[in-house]
Amino acid sequence: MKAVITGSSTGIGLEMAKICLSQGMEVWMTGTRSERPNENSELFGLCPYLAVDLSTKEGQEAFLDWLGPEPIDVFVNNAGYGIWKDVVDTDPDSMEAMIRLNVEALTRFSREMAIRMKAQGYGRILNVASTAAFLPGPHMAAYYASKAYVLSFSDALSWELRGTGVTVTTLCPGPTRSRFFERAGMAAMPLLDGPWMPIMTAHSVAKAGINATLRGKRRAIPGIMNFLSSKAPIFMPRSIQLGTLNWLQGSK
Ligand SMILES: NC(=O)c1ccc[n+]([C@@H]2O[C@H](COP(=O)([O-])OP(=O)(O)OC[C@H]3O[C@@H](n4cnc5c(N)ncnc54)[C@H](OP(=O)(O)O)[C@@H]3O)[C@@H](O)[C@H]2O)c1
Repeated sequence: MKAVITGSSTGIGLEMAKICLSQGMEVWMTGTRSERPNENSELFGLCPYLAVDLSTKEGQEAFLDWLGPEPIDVFVNNAGYGIWKDVVDTDPDSMEAMIRLNVEALTRFSREMAIRMKAQGYGRILNVASTAAFLPGPHMAAYYASKAYVLSFSDALSWELRGTGVTVTTLCPGPTRSRFFERAGMAAMPLLDGPWMPIMTAHSVAKAGINATLRGKRRAIPGIMNFLSSKAPIFMPRSIQLGTLNWLQGSK
């Protein structure tokens, strides 16, 4: 089996790559940095690796060219990041680059893989969203909205592909130990400091995602608190959701 995982130079994607390798899959990896993951170098020496910025059209095309026409069994749209700033304080180019990665690249690769996997009669697509997909997120507004898009798009695509042998799984992690917080510029805040949302390891999140994907499940929400927060819209009015997220993600 061949697995391609975007954003696998570190964090959740790197853990997914390790899990797929341990299951005997051929793994193709990407990141933005030219250096390859240095831990387990003898293992990752076997994996093709592309350093590419997938937030650009040129990067997306270079990536698809690099993949070539060979069959892919498992494709993971994991590359993504957030920006922790109010909308009015965010540089518009940075915000658009994030949306191009989280939304545009994921949409383009999902479509491409759906076509290819449908033709081969088998395939597993895993799209990484977030518990942010279920709620509006003051101070990270565009990131939360991008993940709501990922969930909605992936759910609908999974339905369109019923009966084709191709499944689409959406992974919705909550706070997870990785470079995400540093990359987003997140500082001390109740969300990361309090007991409300336990921070999971990248390995346990990756394992839940890969397991659900191989079983063809539509959704994976690892962790009980994350599962409960995905249900918040059912019992919390929108204004309470906004107030709670505003507090959780506000500076201390
Ligand atoms: N950590 C969390 O709390 C959390 C919670 C919910 C959802 N998620 C989602 O989980 C996914 C993985 O995040 P993570 O926590 O593992 O974060 P991470 O440690 O920061 O890893 C992000 C990965 O994406 C790659 N990447 C970043 N910008 C890119 C770009 N412009 N083009 C191509 N690749 C790019 C990075 O490559 P380089 O390192 O080489 O730059 C890295 O491999 C993301 O979609 C994120 O939104 C994370």
